[in-house]
Amino acid sequence: MMEQELMQSISVGKEATSKTTALVLAGITGGIGLAITAVCIPFVAPGFRRICLPYVPATTEQVKNILQALKGRSGSLIDIGSGDGRIVVAAAKAGFQAHGVELNRWLVYYSRIFALAQGLSSKTYFFKKNLWKFNLNKYDNVVIFGVEEMMDELQEKFKSELKPNCSIVVCRFPLPNYKPIVIIGEGVDAVWVYETPLK
Ligand SMILES: C[S@@+](CC[C@H](N)C(=O)[O-])C[C@H]1O[C@@H](n2cnc3c(N)ncnc32)[C@H](O)[C@@H]1O
Repeated sequence: MMEQELMQSISVGKEATSKTTALVLAGITGGIGLAITAVCIPFVAPGFRRICLPYVPATTEQVKNILQALKGRSGSLIDIGSGDGRIVVAAAKAGFQAHGVELNRWLVYYSRIFALAQGLSSKTYFFKKNLWKFNLNKYDNVVIFGVEEMMDELQEKFKSELKPNCSIVVCRFPLPNYKPIVIIGEGVDAVWVYETPLK
């Protein structure tokens, strides 16, 4: 009789242990799932916005063309939708006080670490903000790698916010209503350069 009771209590103990293991495993799996969702949402979210501006980093050739476009310029610079910070870091290396504005917090964190690793923290700053709610009035130079659908609205923003003698370097899709002073490069790596007041 006692033996039977002992066997019964061992089997109850085993059941409880496997239930706890299952709960722990479910907790870990759920936690990992939540963490993956939290990291992925900022990359997928642009697809649901009115204007979809996804994360597509500038090519090496594009960055080279941007720097070429900025030759002879100085002062402050902002990359609108700064992604992983490659344009901001390249501009800081070229002597600009370079800022980025980016909606995706993970890209902002990455950019800050990237700039720090390059010894450029004091020459760079990354805002975690919506570009449409970010005033550009203090900048001497503006860089944008955008999408065609945003260019109409963006040129209005430039017209109303940018100060005179500001250089605008536009990658891939030009401003629809204004004449560039120069075009550098070709194909997907081409950049269009404008100066304010836009004409
Ligand atoms: C085409 S990528 C360009 C990245 C970077 N400028 C480069 O050339 O490597 C556009 C970036 O804009 C960001 N973005 C999209 N909508 C935004 C918004 N409303 N405000 C700020 N950044 C935004 C995206 O997360 C993405 O990183």
